[in-house]
Amino acid sequence: MLMHDLVTRIERLRVIDRVAAPLADAAHRALPPGTVAKDALSGTWLGHPLHPLLTDIPIGCFTSASIVDVVGGRRGRRSADRLLALGLLSAVPTAAAGLADWSETTGETRRLGVVHALANTVGLGFYAKSYWSRKRGQRARGVAQALIGMGAMTAGGYLGAHLTFTKGIGVNATFREHGPHDWVTVLAASGLPEDRLVRVEADGVALVLRRRGDRVDALSATCTHAGGPLDEGELVDGCVRCPWHGSMFRLATGEVVHGPATAPEPAYDARLVSDKVEVRRREQ
Ligand code: FES
Repeated sequence: MLMHDLVTRIERLRVIDRVAAPLADAAHRALPPGTVAKDALSGTWLGHPLHPLLTDIPIGCFTSASIVDVVGGRRGRRSADRLLALGLLSAVPTAAAGLADWSETTGETRRLGVVHALANTVGLGFYAKSYWSRKRGQRARGVAQALIGMGAMTAGGYLGAHLTFTKGIGVNATFREHGPHDWVTVLAASGLPEDRLVRVEADGVALVLRRRGDRVDALSATCTHAGGPLDEGELVDGCVRCPWHGSMFRLATGEVVHGPATAPEPAYDARLVSDKVEVRRREQ
């Protein structure tokens, strides 16, 4: 419970907002939704957030460097130094991907993200000092600095895990949805105007419908990125744009056209039967 209390205190530190707000604004300006850079760093092309995947590289390199420091003896020195250098280089795209994810957070998660980044920056600073010390022949000092860096990055890693597993950052917001497998009526056809987004419920799952002539497209109304209400979004070229962070999904299939979302929207079959609209979950 000690860690839980500590994290809760961090979440409530409103003073962090003074730094977080302008930083988030700057990140938004640098990485606006719908751009290649934003999609690339979010992991839209990967079908999975990129940041957690990239963290394996610097963490693996830094941890391995310290292990080689301890057990590798004199012969392991060059390998440890190279691992350290690789860890420092790989931290750059890792941090950029983390910044892209963080820029979409608010409130408590945004504050935690700032402290997560701060701990990792302190860790990287010690690893950079370690590399410099080693190059100057101060190996014992460099080994010690790397261990301090590892301590700081472990704290940062703890907060990163908290952001994912407790706060749900990067988790598909629809993964527990189970819409109807058989056709169910959700609306009278007269309640579905042409080319408008309409919210309905099917077996307790919120859906968004769009009608064009006899064709009806149906997706989950909950954005996979962070749960935004797609029925309040915007229709753009056969897609719906989420009102929260601008992810775009193809209405016919649920495919992600632009991030920051990485998971497609659950798509539903929909049909007009006499004067009713029926839907059922589409088997993917
Ligand atoms: S909730 Fe973030 S893009 Fe929809």
